[in-house]
Amino acid sequence: MHPSLSFDQAPPISVPYRFFLAAPWFGVMAGILLAWSGPDAFASRWTPEALALTHLIALGFMLQAMSGALFQFIPVAVGGNVWRPKLVANVVQPLLLLATLLLVAGLLFSQPTLLSAAVPLFLLAVGGFVIVVALALWQTPATGMTLWAMRMAIGGLAVTVLLGSLLAESLAHGLSVPIIELTNIHMAWGLGGWGLMLLAGVSYHVVPMFQLTRPFPLWFTRGFGPLLLLLLLAWSGQYFLDDLRWPLVAGFPLLLILAAYGGMTLWLQYTRRRKIHDATSMYFRVAMLSLLAFAVSGAAFFLDPVIGADPRSVVWLGVLAFAGVFVSAITGMMYKITPFLNWLHLQRLGAPMSAVPNMKKMIPADAMTGQLRLHVLAVLLLLIAVWEPGVVRLAGVSFAASCAWLGWNLVGAIRRYQGFRDQIRASVLHH
Ligand code: HEM
Repeated sequence: MHPSLSFDQAPPISVPYRFFLAAPWFGVMAGILLAWSGPDAFASRWTPEALALTHLIALGFMLQAMSGALFQFIPVAVGGNVWRPKLVANVVQPLLLLATLLLVAGLLFSQPTLLSAAVPLFLLAVGGFVIVVALALWQTPATGMTLWAMRMAIGGLAVTVLLGSLLAESLAHGLSVPIIELTNIHMAWGLGGWGLMLLAGVSYHVVPMFQLTRPFPLWFTRGFGPLLLLLLLAWSGQYFLDDLRWPLVAGFPLLLILAAYGGMTLWLQYTRRRKIHDATSMYFRVAMLSLLAFAVSGAAFFLDPVIGADPRSVVWLGVLAFAGVFVSAITGMMYKITPFLNWLHLQRLGAPMSAVPNMKKMIPADAMTGQLRLHVLAVLLLLIAVWEPGVVRLAGVSFAASCAWLGWNLVGAIRRYQGFRDQIRASVLHH
């Protein structure tokens, strides 16, 4: 296959798939929760529903899918040796699932006991995962900016979970910490230092490969990650410096580099020689357009204090970031990785290459583009619902439906894998 991929170390297929299979259903839960709670959910970022929705997506959808992808990506793309992936996944995933449900319920029903119960589970699950991944990322002889971005991202995940745990304990026990500042810092590390850092690092590698673009320029990949890290540190300075202008000083350059990454990726897609319009490319386009919209509206909210002061402004940014950027980019990636993993593992069963079905047979193209259309509709409805509360329930139902369709497409792919595997095994035995 591709010269920069090595498959000798790939984990068993069940390792990434268990995470991929779980992720969409948290999106379904988020959509149902939104539809059930109705217009009040989006009144401000601090409603119990908004906080619960945030973590259904951040921890249920994003962290599940991104952990599954890391188990696969680290050995295959950067030659890292993940210690006992099956064992680690067996322990980490159930803990993570339980912790997420406890935290979400704790936030939704303002239950201190549930919040407190979630914390040790997160520390154990994410702590274990971070250690195993960090060891693999530091011991690999590989070099390059994808690797560095992944190293920084795993650090970003650790910071996010530590701050999240402090916040949860503070809410549960009424500790006297500056909650708003800490939440803003936690949020920036979660979305920027973990989510975007990983997305960018992985995209340096996979955008040229999957979407047949030119590579990201070296100056860009060398500059983006370290600059993002520096600006997040500066943003975190607001905790120590009692200067109201500080979020602005660090916030603007942050928005600027987000826009630069979105613009660069769109440019590479636009200037590629072979135009392909598969679901992955289109999903990436939706994600990058959402990122640009995030940067532009974030800047507008800073500049116009009247709109900026409206509690719904941050909700708008949240919808763009979670549903627009991350759910889109991750779905696009899953639509590429899943057929490929099916093919890879089937091809290893020892049958002649001609017996291994084509990657295109793993998820029907129509099912992916149909789901993509519904997702785009759901994102638009969610954005409208921020300002037009009458649309909230419809937006919730659409988002739940598009995530369920994604889940169904992935289940279908795995069932097809099992079917083809059984056929190939039978024919190998036969000969
Ligand atoms: C790893 C990915 C995570 C991401 C991307 C993330 C993201 C966020 C965001 C964006 C907010 C602000 C929500 C808003 O303004 O409406 C937030 C708040 C919060 N997060 Fe997380 N989070 C993550 C993990 C965690 C974890 C593991 C915990 C707990 C152990 C946690 C606990 C909290 C709490 C308690 C708040 C609310 C604080 C308050 O009400 O002031 N987060 N998170």
